Amino acid sequence: MSNLVRFGVSLDNKLLNQFDQLIKQHSYTNRSNAIADIIRDKLIEQEWLSNEVVTGVVTIVFDHHQRDLTNSLTNIQHDHHELIISSQHIHLDHDNCYEIIVVKGRANELNKLCDRLKAAKGVKHAKLSLATTGEKV
Ligand code: NI
Repeated sequence: MSNLVRFGVSLDNKLLNQFDQLIKQHSYTNRSNAIADIIRDKLIEQEWLSNEVVTGVVTIVFDHHQRDLTNSLTNIQHDHHELIISSQHIHLDHDNCYEIIVVKGRANELNKLCDRLKAAKGVKHAKLSLATTGEKV
């Protein structure tokens, strides 16, 4: 990595010990990599809060037998086609379907899309996991 800068950090001894335990649990080989990841996580959280363009995944689990639900979910996705990069449908078992929808857009718009999918009758679970486009971090 180019442009590395060294800087000193003063921490309470107990806090540093806890940090070292934490980074060991997460298999970091040094503090610098762990600190860089924590900073990136905060910057990415800020992208979400600032309603910037981000990526994400909406996962939904729904009742295969619910009347008209598949149509409703497809219609909602067509209404927001500009936010959707791809989707995959998995037949979990005889009764349940699982759909993974990869999205990109402003964080607020992605949340609204997830809310609409969640509100459809027969959807048992819908969750948006936000990520980043990677352009700024
Ligand atoms: Ni299915």
